Amino acid sequence: MELTYYGHATFLAKVNGKSLLFDPFITYNELAKHIEVASIRADYVLISHGHQDHVADVAPIAKASDATLIANYEIISWFAGQGLEKGHPLNHGGKAVFDFGTVKFVNAVHSSVLPDGTYGGNPGGFIVYGDKTFYFAGDTALTIDMQLIPRFATLDFAILPIGDNFTMGYEDAVMAAEMIGCKKIIGMHYDTFAPIKIDHAKAKAAFEAAGKELHLLEIGQTIVL
Ligand code: NI
Ligand code: MN
Repeated sequence: MELTYYGHATFLAKVNGKSLLFDPFITYNELAKHIEVASIRADYVLISHGHQDHVADVAPIAKASDATLIANYEIISWFAGQGLEKGHPLNHGGKAVFDFGTVKFVNAVHSSVLPDGTYGGNPGGFIVYGDKTFYFAGDTALTIDMQLIPRFATLDFAILPIGDNFTMGYEDAVMAAEMIGCKKIIGMHYDTFAPIKIDHAKAKAAFEAAGKELHLLEIGQTIVL
């Protein structure tokens, strides 16, 4: 399957022929100025929590694409109030079947408020079971709950935050990779803002020392997994 990185925590995954966009934040990302938001189309937009740096470009892309939103109940309700009525609410521990595969909503340790101050429900992550099985952790600390992930899924790869300060840093992400039983990790939520700038070589070396791979994609790069 193809995976495209649009910076920060924004990924477009092609799953069984459908386009799944995660946490779109492009317009206000200084590092992603070369990405043309208007050209991005998605069949589904998955939103891990309500923070601005995860929802900023949801409305324009979802409207242009007639996409279905997948997020917690509070986020789905907030977007429905803005006329984005195609939404599928999930809550923690729940899973649902879609035309591309199954999505399970799992715990994240973080916070969640929408840009206008509306309560954003609890933050989460997603396990996607499609032509590949992967875990998009969302913004999260390292949490012992991650030990449940291998009971739910055998992962082909995982997308983990590594930028520290607002989420776990790469050292904790190495432990997360161990807990979730996954060797192939794609980094997210780093470099966008001053407090989350990281040393790429050190981050990669930390994973390598643990017998794991950390992939840091260029913004706009597509890889085949
Ligand atoms: Ni956040
Ligand atoms: Mn964030």
